Amino acid sequence: MLELTPWNRPVEARVTVPGDKSLTHRGILMSALAHGSMELLQWLDAGDTRSSLRLVRAWGVQVVEDAPGRLVLRRPDSLHEPQDVVDCGNSGTTMRLGSGVASAVSGLTILRGDDSLSRRPMARVIEPLQEMGLGILARQGGVAPLAIGGGPHRGGAFSLPVASAQVKSALLLAGLSAEGSVSVEEPIPTRDHTERLIEAMGGMVVTRGRTVTVEPQRLEAISFTVPGDPSSAAFWGAIAALRPHRRVTIESLLFSASRTGFFRALEKMGAALEWRPAGTVPEPWGSVAVEGRGLSAISVGADDIPSMIDEVPLLALLATQAEGVTEIRGAQELRVKESDRLRVTTRILRAMGAQLEELDDGWIIEGPAPLHGAQVDAADDHRMAMLAAVAATVAESATQLVGEESVQISYPGFFNRYHQVRNA
Ligand code: S3P
Repeated sequence: MLELTPWNRPVEARVTVPGDKSLTHRGILMSALAHGSMELLQWLDAGDTRSSLRLVRAWGVQVVEDAPGRLVLRRPDSLHEPQDVVDCGNSGTTMRLGSGVASAVSGLTILRGDDSLSRRPMARVIEPLQEMGLGILARQGGVAPLAIGGGPHRGGAFSLPVASAQVKSALLLAGLSAEGSVSVEEPIPTRDHTERLIEAMGGMVVTRGRTVTVEPQRLEAISFTVPGDPSSAAFWGAIAALRPHRRVTIESLLFSASRTGFFRALEKMGAALEWRPAGTVPEPWGSVAVEGRGLSAISVGADDIPSMIDEVPLLALLATQAEGVTEIRGAQELRVKESDRLRVTTRILRAMGAQLEELDDGWIIEGPAPLHGAQVDAADDHRMAMLAAVAATVAESATQLVGEESVQISYPGFFNRYHQVRNA
């Protein structure tokens, strides 16, 4: 248990956040489909991405970690089936995108996960992959462990019922080794890192409106530097926006529009943001400074959710400190993340004194409501632990956080930097 005391002094800090989790997963997993040596610089070294490394190693990809922040992955002439069941830990991205890549590995790839991952819905990837002619078995209810028989498979056209970059990516990756084209129509556009990386690796992707199409093709390995993760940066953006006299500058951050919806929402709520673009490779990146200026309520609906999906709970926290009634709708996918994030967020914020009503797909939140310390449980979910830590900065008394070690999944150095900034 971690005791977190209020931050009562002005904040002026510069932070760098770890490399983007989505891009690191894709770099690792797509190295298994590429010709040559793939090099990732400033990759996210954390629990989730280590799960993807475990998976590609099990297929025979050679992994070299010879300098801090540098990862080199070399695919063998042909991938082989893993000798044992591969543990995807807590990582939905490893399991879902990995299922797509497994279609190219002849033989059986069996994927298991921790308790949380073993409850998460996998039918959304299994069913379309089965339609491509792949043999896939799962436990009843379409949950892990999954057994994927890789080998020849057809293409197909799919219309996804849920907006999910993980499902879209799994199908596109399976399309690279299919016998025909694969096209995927999304209800709402989601993060497009897989499409961009296929193109950066010499491949071709056609995006028309909400439909993305790939042909079977071989990729070429590339080298790239992973910009900082907006989903990790969001915790700092929230710390700054929560109170006047707080300013945090986040360096080398991924700027892609499909990931920065939370920062745009901060601006709408009244925080002052300064964006400084610095580069475009492998995707737009730069620094952003966030300054607290008081907050007002906003309305967020289904179309806004994909570009801020992992940050939506932070928006709920900000709304507790904003003037007026905030409505957040269309976020039902949060119920099937590492925890039921609608329920866990409600539980944490209510224990601290917030006024919020939980709906099936979001919340109605009345602000501003003073927060006080409480004992709160992160439910073994990294993002819920960091949410509680951010809330603790504006509580009137100390917060006791259970489950702080879960931050290892995406942001191992979070609490070090948190204490440094508080005590500076
Ligand atoms: C991710 C997509 C999102 C997100 C997850 C990472 C990705 O999930 O919540 O943390 O890397 O594609 P869904 O695509 O399932 O919504």
